[in-house]
Amino acid sequence: MVPLLLILILSCFIGASQGLQVGFYANTCPNAESIVRRVVSEAAASEQNAPPVLLRLHFHDCFVNGCDGSILIATGLETDEKGAFGHQGVQGFEIIERAKAQLEATCPGIVSCADIVALAARDAVFLTNGPLYEVPTGRRDGLVSNKSLADNMPDITDSIDTLKTKFSEKGLSEKDLVLLSSAHTIGTTACFFMTNRLYEFTAGGGSDPSINPGFLSELKGTCPQNGNVNTRLPMDRGSGQTFDNQILQNIRSGFAVLETDARLYEDAATKNVVDSYFGFFRPFLGPSFEADFAEAMVKMGEIGVLTGSEGEIRRVCSAFN
Ligand code: HEM
Ligand SMILES: *[C@@H]1O[C@H](CO)[C@@H](O)[C@H](O)[C@H]1NC(C)=O
Repeated sequence: MVPLLLILILSCFIGASQGLQVGFYANTCPNAESIVRRVVSEAAASEQNAPPVLLRLHFHDCFVNGCDGSILIATGLETDEKGAFGHQGVQGFEIIERAKAQLEATCPGIVSCADIVALAARDAVFLTNGPLYEVPTGRRDGLVSNKSLADNMPDITDSIDTLKTKFSEKGLSEKDLVLLSSAHTIGTTACFFMTNRLYEFTAGGGSDPSINPGFLSELKGTCPQNGNVNTRLPMDRGSGQTFDNQILQNIRSGFAVLETDARLYEDAATKNVVDSYFGFFRPFLGPSFEADFAEAMVKMGEIGVLTGSEGEIRRVCSAFN
């Protein structure tokens, strides 16, 4: 009886972590995590957008064919996943490549690009005042890069039901949807993604009625109709460079910038999750936004990972070996 129970508990544990483990490189490349951290810090010191860019990169990697570094492949062919419509504006590739080069110089053939992306996202969160969390590692790099696999990326105009479905297909709950969308607490969006919400939301060319009226004119001022779609604006009004729960407060009060973030407050289940971080006794009692965000990130980082002898450890992140 006891061994059976033990096996059950063990297999539960392994199932939960998908075969990844914290400190996977402790013996094979002890400085792996500090090397990534240094490269990310240096990038952040010279480019303000480095942390948000790296956080977003991990999401886009994980949602297509699992967290396997597939988004990093750049063969130059039309079929590269990287060029998918759903990956528009994704950046950070050189930072990952820089970390990879240093890791190859220190411990060749050991650290996967997929793990570098996951670690860099963690460091990005911490660098912007977010929680520090442990990232299970041991991911292997994928051998597939196929644009059509990105057809189903969450889209800015998706309904809340579509978002829930797309997340649940990746094993992520409604709570995860809210927490992971809160990544929009840092970073910017191009006006390109605001067009629908500001000028094409309703049949007659109206805007999303959920936007606070004062904020609507502010948004229209920044992103005028037929203006420059490359103009950028913070997604977390008033706090776009700091990781905090202001994004959820903004979502509650009509100050969400992204359309999909606004939708989170119009559905009973996701609204409850948002509200749970603003209980009367917060911040002393109740769930911790920071801890829950970290948990959701770890979960996202386990989507479809390759482990053991699956895939490969790339020498260069942009190319298969
Ligand atoms: C729920 C579905 C999601 C949609 C529809 C969505 C959409 C977007 C859009 C349209 C942008 C602006 C991109 C640009 O103009 O460069 C953006 C930026 C960003 N997204 Fe999301 N996103 C989603 C979920 C997530 C998740 C799960 C994460 C990470 C956990 C994330 C992290 C980010 C970050 C950090 C940025 C800022 C990038 C920058 O400043 O360059 N997003 N997202
Ligand atoms: C890419 O994926 C699609 C959908 O799974 C598949 O039909 C297609 O054959 C794949 N293309 C390549 C080049 O592997």
